[in-house]
Amino acid sequence: MYNKKVMETFANPQNVGYIEDNDGAGKVGNATCGDIMEITIKVKDNVITDAKFRTFGCAAAVATSSVATSMVIGMTVDEALKLTNAKVVEYLEGLPPQKIHCSVLAEEAIKEAIEDYRRRQKDKENK
Ligand code: FES
Repeated sequence: MYNKKVMETFANPQNVGYIEDNDGAGKVGNATCGDIMEITIKVKDNVITDAKFRTFGCAAAVATSSVATSMVIGMTVDEALKLTNAKVVEYLEGLPPQKIHCSVLAEEAIKEAIEDYRRRQKDKENK
């Protein structure tokens, strides 16, 4: 059901793991299937220097998370907020229609991690 690029990415995903001393963490659930994704990021001077993911999800969720985390490394947080699941799916040369919802997990988890980062920054400023 998956194309070659998706299968290759799933078989050899990048950025799997959890950054212990992260600057932001986002955990989201997929309303459609109940799967869970967690992304942690490191940020320096407003640029994402590292991103890792853990997922309890399907092959499409793993492949899209691998691509999405690779894409945001090196982006500013504002640029990363503009990353859409459509761009990730395009990079993977498409997903089966019933698997598009899986690609939303990574986008949402990245946004959540950035929001967490910003919250922590604000807390620091207010101290
Ligand atoms: Fe749940 Fe794909 S079926 S993330």
